[in-house]
Amino acid sequence: MSLDGFIDDAGPDRLVLSDEEDLDRVDAVRASCDAILVGAGTIRADDPRLLVRSADRRAERRRAGLPASPAKVTVTATGDLDPAGAFFTAGVASADAAGDGTGGVPERLVYCASPAVAKAEHRLGAVATVVDGGDPVTLTRVLADLAGRGVGRLMVEGGTRILTEALAAELVDELHVVVAPFLVGDPAAPRFVAPGRFPHGPAHPMALTEVRTMGDRVLLRYELGDGPHRGQS
Ligand SMILES: NC(=O)c1ccc[n+]([C@@H]2O[C@H](COP(=O)([O-])OP(=O)(O)OC[C@H]3O[C@@H](n4cnc5c(N)ncnc54)[C@H](OP(=O)(O)O)[C@@H]3O)[C@@H](O)[C@H]2O)c1
Repeated sequence: MSLDGFIDDAGPDRLVLSDEEDLDRVDAVRASCDAILVGAGTIRADDPRLLVRSADRRAERRRAGLPASPAKVTVTATGDLDPAGAFFTAGVASADAAGDGTGGVPERLVYCASPAVAKAEHRLGAVATVVDGGDPVTLTRVLADLAGRGVGRLMVEGGTRILTEALAAELVDELHVVVAPFLVGDPAAPRFVAPGRFPHGPAHPMALTEVRTMGDRVLLRYELGDGPHRGQS
């Protein structure tokens, strides 16, 4: 995020907040996870690929018997997603999909609100597994279903609504915040989190476990722990 807490600007292009060192750090975290979750808004705004970039990390995952990149997961109430988007197509098109000589196609899961499941199936069924996420979809239910599919470690990359929901529902074990050395200052831009009722307020702060300087950027790592509200949402 920017110093004033924005994770993008309000323009059509993605605001670059990370430098190469941070992108490599993100890549290492991705490679350590079973799945990556982004909201449908992030797919529409950024068209992310969500693949492990480093050939060494992909090869290491394959040696461990894992797909080269983690599964990709999204949540939508509307099902309005483009099946040609990189979320659905990147890493899938060729046999050597991950570009590391080992193949390995990442799974794609779309948790859709019950009323839109039929539409989402029709639109996305050829490129993803559409799962009925309930009405409304709750992240608690999504996480339980993912656990049943063998996902033990999930990376939540954003955007604002997904991060807000995950933090408010106390579903987060660890938070990584990287602060970029500039201000965005546009009230129309998306914030790291929206207003909400967060269990980790002033009376129940997170534990800071790491501060890492990366050039002009800084990583803050927090552990959120087993709070009193855990699992109640
Ligand atoms: N700097 C960073 O690290 C970073 C990372 C990721 C994203 N971003 C930025 O974040 C912005 C997008 O944030 P956002 O808040 O608009 O989008 P978001 O959180 O990515 O996605 C919101 C969408 O997800 C779906 N959704 C979320 N929770 C749901 C639930 N419980 N039930 C059903 N559907 C649910 C809805 O999709 P439908 O509308 O399809 O129903 C909703 O519109 C972009 O500007 C992006 O660049 C920044």
